[in-house]
Amino acid sequence: MVCLITGSSRGLGKAVALAFGKRGHKVVVHFKDKQKEAEAVAAQIKEAMALKADVRRFDEVKILIEEVVKHWGGIDVLVNNAGITKEALLIKTSEKDFNEVLDTNLKGAFNFIRAVAPFMIEQKSGHIINISSFAGLKGKTGLSAYSASKAGLIGLTMSAARELCEYNIKVNAVLPGYMLTDMGIESNEKVKELALRDSLLKNFSDLDNVAEFVCYLAGTSGISGQVFNLDGRII
Ligand SMILES: NC(=O)c1ccc[n+]([C@@H]2O[C@H](COP(=O)([O-])OP(=O)(O)OC[C@H]3O[C@@H](n4cnc5c(N)ncnc54)[C@H](OP(=O)(O)O)[C@@H]3O)[C@@H](O)[C@H]2O)c1
Repeated sequence: MVCLITGSSRGLGKAVALAFGKRGHKVVVHFKDKQKEAEAVAAQIKEAMALKADVRRFDEVKILIEEVVKHWGGIDVLVNNAGITKEALLIKTSEKDFNEVLDTNLKGAFNFIRAVAPFMIEQKSGHIINISSFAGLKGKTGLSAYSASKAGLIGLTMSAARELCEYNIKVNAVLPGYMLTDMGIESNEKVKELALRDSLLKNFSDLDNVAEFVCYLAGTSGISGQVFNLDGRII
């Protein structure tokens, strides 16, 4: 399979890219700024390429997708993983920050789906996995833009799943638990404390567990329009 993972220069995306690579799949390691890191991830995979695009820019996303299709003939799996947070109470969140989070986390996934779907429709197969968050279902104090973007991703997942099912394209959402990536480490202590407090198992989410789950899901054929919560917090 040809697997494209957005934001795979580091964090969860990197773990997912390596997990697909370990299974012998062709992998597109996507990045925005961290080229060296992305190339280092690609170097660990037998068949991989590192490609740059700002997920907020449809023109850049379209060029990237066309390059992959030209090189490998199609795309079987798209994991919309790239994301950012801007922590602030709602009344202190600027319009600029709100827009940046929504443009990256929600419109970014929309851009990638819009660019990839025509090729998946033509090949009559594909699996799109959107990385959402517990925050998208429950909301979090200080994360209104992030929570809104991740809730939006769940709606986008379900609509895309309904529209694309007739072409044998599966669309699902995965909610990782709290992970100690750059994003997780930069969060304020209160957010971390609450994640641990509410976890039945009193632990953070394991990157490799999440990555293995994403790989498994990508290989399934009868699951679409679903939301998978991957940690010990009860919804
Ligand atoms: N960490 C958690 O606890 C947690 C929990 C639940 C869900 N999630 C979700 O899991 C996903 C991965 O999170 P993470 O913790 O691994 O994050 P991370 O370590 O901060 O990595 C973010 C990735 O997104 C890319 N990115 C950011 N803005 C971009 C843009 N405009 N265009 C293209 N790429 C962009 C970055 O590329 P560069 O390296 O090139 O900058 C990087 O590869 C996110 O969607 C996040 O919301 C995380």
